[in-house]
Amino acid sequence: MIVVTGATGNIGRPLIERLSAAAPVRALSRRPRESTDRVTYIEADLGDPADLKSAFAGADKLFLLTPGPQFDLPAIVDVAEGSGIERIVLVTSQRVESRPEEGLEAMERPITESGLDWTVLRPSGFASNALMWAESVRTGRSITAPFGDVGLPVIDPADIAAVAAAALTEDGHSGKTYTLTGPELVTPAEQAATIGAALGEPVEFIEQSREEAFAALTRLWPAEVVEGILRTLGEPNRIERTVSSAVATVTGRPARTFAAWAERHAAAFR
Ligand SMILES: NC(=O)c1ccc[n+]([C@@H]2O[C@H](COP(=O)([O-])OP(=O)(O)OC[C@H]3O[C@@H](n4cnc5c(N)ncnc54)[C@H](OP(=O)(O)O)[C@@H]3O)[C@@H](O)[C@H]2O)c1
Repeated sequence: MIVVTGATGNIGRPLIERLSAAAPVRALSRRPRESTDRVTYIEADLGDPADLKSAFAGADKLFLLTPGPQFDLPAIVDVAEGSGIERIVLVTSQRVESRPEEGLEAMERPITESGLDWTVLRPSGFASNALMWAESVRTGRSITAPFGDVGLPVIDPADIAAVAAAALTEDGHSGKTYTLTGPELVTPAEQAATIGAALGEPVEFIEQSREEAFAALTRLWPAEVVEGILRTLGEPNRIERTVSSAVATVTGRPARTFAAWAERHAAAFR
């Protein structure tokens, strides 16, 4: 039995699709979907140890992501170990390596220093972040974003799911940390054009100043988080601009392009 956290999210959905063909899956989120023969959706809060105890009971593998910094990873790992989980695949972020000054490595230590069989996935920015533009594309065929000509190797969450599925079900990934990116650098202006191509209609790109972006993003996240995001979007360092081959190495096929992601998600922008 494999437990998948973040089950209804960008990674969780394609991961469950892959895993459920091979093994029974218990899918965890606060707002569960309807269960099927092979996937049992359960309502559980990652912040509630009692919920986790019943969610992990009888499982031997765990796909773990924490949707925010407020979760107590040592407590989650304790419950996992106490429940008999043997293997954990954890999602953190490329920032662990690219921005060590942010201290994100501490997120990984409860897993890497546990007695469990572990794999850590450090993805770059997700292609699915483009969904934050869905409304402005639907209503005005435009995208407003900062740093329109700065390219980053955004990753399709389906590729993170593919690597996670391999790490959960195959041998050879124990004790490994994979930095995961897409296959090429893509700028926000190119993303707008690519979404337009998927729609068959032009999408205008409107350059936003750093200050405007800061004001917009601090409505969603704390100022220090936004500062970090804007540093990466505006002045990516060498690590953040490097394309990793890990998706291809682990899955045996190239990482998906942003164009492929946009084609699959065109309906969200129509
Ligand atoms: N976006 C990026 O560019 C980026 C880059 C690097 C790393 N990451 C990491 O990727 C992860 C996000 O993955 P994602 O995009 O697949 O997730 P997502 O689409 O944002 O979905 C979050 C999932 O977590 C569940 N969830 C939220 N709060 C929960 C709680 N308290 N208890 C239990 N479940 C909860 C949600 O379902 P409910 O709401 O129903 O509970 C949903 O299934 C985060 O760890 C993030 O740091 C993201």
